[in-house]
Amino acid sequence: MNKISIKTDKEKETMRKAGKILAEMLLELKNNIRSGVDVWELEEKFIQMCKENNVTPSCKGYDSDGFLPPFPTGLCLSINNQSVHCYPKKGVILKNGDIVNIDTVINLEGLHVDSSVCIPVGDVSKDAKDLIETTKKALYEAASKVKHGVRVGVLSETIQKTVEKAGFNVLKDYAGHGIGYSMHEEPEIVCYGNKHEGPKLKDGMTICIETLVCTGNDEVFNVNAWETRMKDGGLFCIFEHTILVTRKGYEILTR
Ligand code: MF3
Ligand code: CO
Repeated sequence: MNKISIKTDKEKETMRKAGKILAEMLLELKNNIRSGVDVWELEEKFIQMCKENNVTPSCKGYDSDGFLPPFPTGLCLSINNQSVHCYPKKGVILKNGDIVNIDTVINLEGLHVDSSVCIPVGDVSKDAKDLIETTKKALYEAASKVKHGVRVGVLSETIQKTVEKAGFNVLKDYAGHGIGYSMHEEPEIVCYGNKHEGPKLKDGMTICIETLVCTGNDEVFNVNAWETRMKDGGLFCIFEHTILVTRKGYEILTR
């Protein structure tokens, strides 16, 4: 991971602009999610929207340190027990009762913004509804604690407490992160731990809080180089925002 970077006013403006674009794209994708839809249509729609907005899809072709094969698509998309870094494939059709996570990153003038949403397809189980509500709530509760001088551990502890109180679990193998000219920068923001841990947030940092939550045991296994699934077959849910740290508090850029 690259070091923590403090953004200039101009960089903040660019990331605000990119954040708005990404929020609108995710909303548009959400509006296209229903039973019977081929997930590949969502990928095509996303690539089209990137062109229209003069941004580039950061995930497509991404290779973390040349260690993994380049990521194949613009969207990360996972359904039900599929977990982080799954990608959409032609012929996969959404059905009533599924939950779909869309996680994606765009690049505007070299700066990245990253956001995720989980969307229910039609009528989903009570458990799935609770999972989605809890995961979203954990993200906004953690975000509300963001402020210059606050330790990253405050966010981690908030996420873990909110999730476990509702009877769900946090993933331990993946984490939120700083963001800027690189998709993944320091600090790492895990979803567990305690408030006295981690570096202090600073005015001008931009961070991605990812609430990575599951209904059962938090262990995942790799299906291939990128794609993972929950080992016990439970549901996986993620929400994520790119957030600017300020002296007074925070600004959610991807809303
Ligand atoms: N929010 C995801 C992450 O930070 C986005 C991954 S994009 C990928 O890991 F290209 F790495 F898949
Ligand atoms: Co991320």
